[in-house]
Amino acid sequence: MCGIVAYVGHRQAAEFLIDGLRRLEYRGYDSAGLATVSSDRRLHVLKAVGKVDALAEKLKRHWAPGTIGVGHTRWATHGAPTEVNAHPHRGGDDCVVLAHNGVIENYRLLKDQLEEEGYKFVSATDTEVVAHLVASCYDKLRALETEANDDPYALPIAAINEATSKLRGTYGLAILLRDYPGVIFAARQGSPLVIGVGNHEHWVASDASPLAGRTDKIVYLADRQLAVITADSLHVLERDIGTVSHSVEALNIVADDVGLEGFPHYMLKEIYEQPDSLTAAMRGRLNDVDATAVFGGLNLSPQQLRSVNRIILTACGTSWHAALVGEYLMEELARIPVEVEYASELRYRNPPVDQGTLLFAITQSGETADTLAALREMKRKGHPSLAICNVIGSTIAQEADGGVYLHAGPEIGVASTKAYTSQVVTLTMLALYFGRLRHLSFEAGQRIIAQLRKLPDLVRETLEVNNEVRRIAAKYCHADNFLYLGRQFNFPTGLEGALKLKEISYIHAEGYPAAEMKHGPIALVDEHTPSVFVMPQGGVYEKVMSNLEEIKARGGPVIAIAAKGDKEIARLADDVIYVPECEEFLSPLINIVPLQLLAYHIAVLRGCDVDKPRNLAKSVTVE
Ligand code: M6R
Repeated sequence: MCGIVAYVGHRQAAEFLIDGLRRLEYRGYDSAGLATVSSDRRLHVLKAVGKVDALAEKLKRHWAPGTIGVGHTRWATHGAPTEVNAHPHRGGDDCVVLAHNGVIENYRLLKDQLEEEGYKFVSATDTEVVAHLVASCYDKLRALETEANDDPYALPIAAINEATSKLRGTYGLAILLRDYPGVIFAARQGSPLVIGVGNHEHWVASDASPLAGRTDKIVYLADRQLAVITADSLHVLERDIGTVSHSVEALNIVADDVGLEGFPHYMLKEIYEQPDSLTAAMRGRLNDVDATAVFGGLNLSPQQLRSVNRIILTACGTSWHAALVGEYLMEELARIPVEVEYASELRYRNPPVDQGTLLFAITQSGETADTLAALREMKRKGHPSLAICNVIGSTIAQEADGGVYLHAGPEIGVASTKAYTSQVVTLTMLALYFGRLRHLSFEAGQRIIAQLRKLPDLVRETLEVNNEVRRIAAKYCHADNFLYLGRQFNFPTGLEGALKLKEISYIHAEGYPAAEMKHGPIALVDEHTPSVFVMPQGGVYEKVMSNLEEIKARGGPVIAIAAKGDKEIARLADDVIYVPECEEFLSPLINIVPLQLLAYHIAVLRGCDVDKPRNLAKSVTVE
């Protein structure tokens, strides 16, 4: 949700701003804007409703010159998606211009105060309040200033700190001040900001994707920090502390990671990347000597981990579905009781939690507001709180006591695919790890590792179903409703398959445990409502088959995801997608692939914007 970019250096800022905003499009937005300052100190502001392309068109007609600038994609919260509400916003008599990501909860009160001071508001946004507030604090401090300070930026730093200390809520801010040409001030609290370090140039962005191909050096700004950035310098300060050291880290993504690489959509590219992303998730984490998994960053001693007697997995959306698979895996392999909690519920609940309870917050972006709040609440209560996270340096990764990175690479498609399978394989390795700390035998550990090693090739083989899935998609793409049914390990697969279809094709789809279907949803079944059955070989195959018969008996068309070699299924199902046979505990990782492809092809056939579905944002940074 919302994306910020900024540039200061020796090139035309607008070129980077447009390109950077395009790379942040996946976060979700409905308007865009940019501001540059030219060498004659004139401010140039351009805004457009809709896509970044519309802004780029405007820029062709009215070039915004200058080697410093800020840009923004806005996902409307306060006020409709209009040009007036689009960022950047100006403060004072244009002495401040800024872009903001986040939500200012006390903006009403601040707005009243600023209006009393005489500031005039043109937009309905909470952000314009921040712009005027910075201007107000700056003017007041400047009026008080009596003697010269050694630090040339002491005044704007004090003004921004004063202004941000009055804000309640979340912000990532990129601020330009008229009196300080050539300086970007970047501040954050709860909304991510990263800084790319170059040769006589710096970039600021909401995440690393706009930096790929421009620099391999990155600084992750932390909460309460303020960065003062010029072409040649970068200083980081912390509110109430002053200058703090910052570490420049290696940025491991390259331009190809954020390009389409010949694929028509990011979602399809990311589905096809899964053999590699699974390999990356397992790299260096399978230990044959002890027949277990190894994790460098859990930051808990083996004794502490050994005494874990309950695990809470918390997450939202697709990550929550991964958590559900994790519940089956942990209970099966490690015999530890697991609870899966929607983060949005956990944050406001007060469940009794004993010592020995370990929390994992599961998140692709590491920025999901509800997941972050649930993690903070559990930390506050003193429970070890770890993260399973993809985005390096994200807020949740920074705030967790420790955790596991997925190493899936940037996931740009709004519909999560490769991050999901990386989460599930990480949970499988964690289940192996906890199992081996407890009762799981050396031989069982070895068998699990051997199966995990085969996984990337099995997924590669599964991807061969693509043409068949496209054919089936064409047959069913006009349906208004779908049911997705599975059991045990593959009940979450059904939920995730249904979510994928809903998100990108806008078709109503429900995922259910197959046997629950007769307690209500079966009323939906008719000849126009396809049911997708996930039915690998294993403990509940016969049971799922009975559920399938119940649907067929009511005239419902059935698409089955079944293991190669299943002779029985073709007799009953209307269409079968055959996937490689595998151990039951790995089957969610195989069976989800055709469901991702099915959703993808149906959405394409219906003419939907697969990578940027309506109303959705990639990282949901508001409650
Ligand atoms: O970044 P997170 O994993 O925390 O995001 C959680 C959900 O917002 C996310 O999984 C969402 O459901 C996706 N659009 C699913 O495809």
